Amino acid sequence: MVPTDDRRYAPATQRNREPILGVLERVLPQAAGSILEIASGTGEHAVFFAPQLAPRLWLPTDPDPAARQSIAAWRQSQPAANLGAPLAVDVSQPDWWLALPKFSPALQAIVAINLIHIAPWQACLGLLAGARALLGPGGILYLYGPFLQADRPTAPSNLAFDDYLKAQNPHWGLRSLETVITAAQPLQVVKILAMPANNLSVILQL
Ligand SMILES: C[S@@+](CC[C@H](N)C(=O)[O-])C[C@H]1O[C@@H](n2cnc3c(N)ncnc32)[C@H](O)[C@@H]1O
Repeated sequence: MVPTDDRRYAPATQRNREPILGVLERVLPQAAGSILEIASGTGEHAVFFAPQLAPRLWLPTDPDPAARQSIAAWRQSQPAANLGAPLAVDVSQPDWWLALPKFSPALQAIVAINLIHIAPWQACLGLLAGARALLGPGGILYLYGPFLQADRPTAPSNLAFDDYLKAQNPHWGLRSLETVITAAQPLQVVKILAMPANNLSVILQL
């Protein structure tokens, strides 16, 4: 019997994984904690980051069963002792964090790459609520993606992307960085870093 391969591919992950890893290595606490990845998608980031960030425990999640199958398939093809099995997490569900297993080691960071503009605003609010509920003092929330910024013009490629997203779903679209930061309180901004292709890394801390 020919084995099935559920691995999915998102070419952007090949381009952004090194720059994102560079930021994570700088901003994550040194202690060996757990890192909860929200919206892991294909799982390509998870299998790339986990071995590089060992001994931290990387926990991928996605609400989409096909995405979780892809993550599991990538995990099978590139096993890492510190990469967990994919969990079903939908941050737009109320109190989503209550259904998670207990973290061991303790949770030190939540990572959400390319989520909040490709989901309704409610998902961003749910992500922020979960970060407030799950993280302890010093815990990190890492956001990656394109944003609108009040004090600078939006790159034409990002404006076109915003139009494209809204055509897919009127509730999707680039988020205002200032609005996200305000909604995240009491999480505070630690760093905002410009990334390739007009993306940002936004690092928030409780
Ligand atoms: C554009 S993909 C990004 C995947 C991956 N992080 C990456 O950068 O390649 C968006 C992902 O968000 C997930 N997603 C959408 N709504 C979500 C929600 N409410 N909670 C958690 N994940 C969600 C989708 O299933 C999808 O896998």
